[in-house]
Amino acid sequence: MIQDIVDFSSMQHDRIRRLCDEVDTAGRSGKQRLFNQLAELVSRHEFSDRKVIYPSVVDHTTGGAADAVACMVEAGNILRELSGLQRVAADDVTFDARFANLHRVLLNHMAHEERAEFPLLRLYVPAQRLHAMANEAHDVQTMRRRGSGRSGTSPAASRGAR
Ligand SMILES: [Fe+2]
Repeated sequence: MIQDIVDFSSMQHDRIRRLCDEVDTAGRSGKQRLFNQLAELVSRHEFSDRKVIYPSVVDHTTGGAADAVACMVEAGNILRELSGLQRVAADDVTFDARFANLHRVLLNHMAHEERAEFPLLRLYVPAQRLHAMANEAHDVQTMRRRGSGRSGTSPAASRGAR
């Protein structure tokens, strides 16, 4: 695999940003399907961030621990918001306002990781390890997807997985 963990995560962040914009602008029929795709991607992305990125930032960089902890707290809030929204249909009157809030916190969270964590990983962690981390994140996410039908991810979210 040619990607390292920073490339891998940055590409997923871009995909999450695009999907958020698509949910924002989708008509009634497409909104639920796009939101389900977004929910599935955000869920497995945050899961692998927690397993692969945050521990490395805490253990192998200088000065990154506080930001890693702050990012973990942000991720927890995002997953709670996401799970609340998964219980609301996309045509519910509250959906757009709640989604706008989720969209905002997601953008802030990803910008925080890109600003505070990614440069430290590139600075302190050897390139070979960064590449191994990309493989680990990929594997963790694959296991998460395979297990999603049994681990509480909503059937709607599972159906929307790409
Ligand atoms: Fe991330």
